[in-house]
Amino acid sequence: MKKVKKAIIPAAGLGTRFLPATKAMPKEMLPIINKPTIQYIVEEAIEAGIEDIIIVTGKGKRAIEDHFDSAFELETKLLEAGKLELLKEVQRSAKVELHYIRQKEPKGLGHAVWCARRFIGNEPFGVLLGDDIVTGKVPCLRQLIDQYETYGKSVIGVQNVASDMTHRYGVIDPGERRDRLYSVNRFVEKPKPGTAPSDLAIMGRYVFSPKIFDYLELMEVGAGGEIQLTDAIQKLNEEEQVHAYQFEGTRYDVGERLGYILTTLSFAMKSKDLRQDVLDMMASMLKEERYASAFEYRGGVDHGLASTAGGV
Ligand code: G1P
Repeated sequence: MKKVKKAIIPAAGLGTRFLPATKAMPKEMLPIINKPTIQYIVEEAIEAGIEDIIIVTGKGKRAIEDHFDSAFELETKLLEAGKLELLKEVQRSAKVELHYIRQKEPKGLGHAVWCARRFIGNEPFGVLLGDDIVTGKVPCLRQLIDQYETYGKSVIGVQNVASDMTHRYGVIDPGERRDRLYSVNRFVEKPKPGTAPSDLAIMGRYVFSPKIFDYLELMEVGAGGEIQLTDAIQKLNEEEQVHAYQFEGTRYDVGERLGYILTTLSFAMKSKDLRQDVLDMMASMLKEERYASAFEYRGGVDHGLASTAGGV
């Protein structure tokens, strides 16, 4: 069986949820602390053993290419200044070959993946979506590759979500289960509230056999008027079984504003340098908030205090 050595990162989305920040900057370049979100994704792929990544970009995404380009001047300066830790950080993504292709029209995720078909050729490959950062002992994509290399079937990463959140995801109707691995009766993209077949949702990590391109090729439009990857997966599942794997790890949704803030806070909590300062700051914000509401309750209004505490 061919090994999984290539991966696609679709990064052509418009990022409207983060406007105006994303007017001139790709949403994939929004940082979680000091690292652009897309770099977390690239690093996961590298740790999973991927050797070639193709990033599917669109209009206004040049900053992604610049970011991953080698920065000779910066690297020389860091070396001269003896800032070797920073230099290592800057050079981390040099361990993989990065390639770029443009999705010329925003026709959806399925279409974005299809755009990379010539680069993939007749090999199995991974897909990592940029809105989902996953942390854990074993990189999420590696867990899926291990399943692919054991059973030879395409495999989709899933996790449980709250049942009132299923309409935001692709959801599976699970069949037989062996530990964390499921056979799947049906894949449904964004089921209407109350109609989801389970609470196991697709979380932005996939390993595919190249057969998936045959179904993406049909270009059928699905939910939201877009060519949906999930619909092609369902078709593939009818021809050659597709597995779902409930991966281990924590998944962060950086594709929407609250998720982005929570991810930043959560990563700050794990940072030795930031943790205590952030905790102290939050404690004092909470104190101010309580003080402000107690003050309002007594009939006085101190807008100054209330607004300092706003937003957290
Ligand atoms: C996409 C997929 C969906 C998946 C989700 C994970 O949706 O279409 O199946 O559950 O990513 O983040 P999007 O978030 O692009 O609407």
